[in-house]
Amino acid sequence: MIKAVSTPNIALIKYWGNRDERLRLPAADSLSMTLDAPSVEVSMEEAGLFSLSSFEADGSEKKLNAEQIERCATHLKLMDIELGRLGHAVTRNSVKIVIRSHIPAGIGLASSAAVFSAIAKAYSAIRAPSLADADVSGLARLGSGSAARSIFGGFAALWTKTGNAEQIADEKHWRLHDVVLVPSATHKKVGSTEGHASAHTSPLFEDRLKEIPRRMEECMNAISRKDFEKLQRVSEEDALDMHAVMRAQTPSLDYLNDDTHRILKEIESLRTSEHLEVLYTMDAGPTVHLICTDAALSRIKAYAETQKACTVFTTSIGNGSRLI
Ligand code: PMV
Repeated sequence: MIKAVSTPNIALIKYWGNRDERLRLPAADSLSMTLDAPSVEVSMEEAGLFSLSSFEADGSEKKLNAEQIERCATHLKLMDIELGRLGHAVTRNSVKIVIRSHIPAGIGLASSAAVFSAIAKAYSAIRAPSLADADVSGLARLGSGSAARSIFGGFAALWTKTGNAEQIADEKHWRLHDVVLVPSATHKKVGSTEGHASAHTSPLFEDRLKEIPRRMEECMNAISRKDFEKLQRVSEEDALDMHAVMRAQTPSLDYLNDDTHRILKEIESLRTSEHLEVLYTMDAGPTVHLICTDAALSRIKAYAETQKACTVFTTSIGNGSRLI
């Protein structure tokens, strides 16, 4: 029995849209910070037939729907094809998978990056133990594009050219935190798999693709120099741009709500008046991630506690997926 544990990541330069939907090959590069919590644990063993079960943080079994089971089965098939291409023996055996998520209910943190990176880590340990992490990240991407980045700790980039992720700096390089604010009034959500598929319908999408190489450069430069102001400018520019692209696509996707917009305004004025190193970013939902330095953390936590309409979760930079 193999066990792997993994955590979500938060993108600073966002991945939105694919150049190949089935293989989840991103249309552009992206860059993220891996978080140290909440974790997802995957146990895996060889079995004649594929089976999948999932348990919540409180130990209760989570009923999976047909679509979720199908997505995982497809992921395994795609990983087999990729492992064959990389020269590893193909087997007729399948696997039994048990997922244990420590993501508290209602926290609104996307778990797909943590789940699919843990599955790829465990599956490669069974089928191809010598596989390099870059190739393991390519396997994770076949389940969820952003999962490729959670294979690595610290800061990781997912390159469209190779379809693999790469570590940009490890978790010891710059100790940043993510104070996550989850507004309770969430509206109906279109998942990111569906959203990626219609990204090309947005008249703003082509312009976005042109801007990404410059933003990646600036973001990597800001990380290597620990230049927070530069990181803030480029990551907020990119997050707002992704949401503009989403709103302009057909059908229009507006993931942000009134609470999101209010929090962004309050954070902008707080950081100006108190000179705080904090930046905001949002993925496919109204949840606001407040990424901050050690120096700003206690003030940002105090601000978060005043947000009675939100569930708050504090995490720090983490070390990526691993076998346990
Ligand atoms: O990995 P997916 O298919 O859930 O896509 C993630 C998309 C965003 O979270 C919106 C951006 C990102 O880079 O994580």
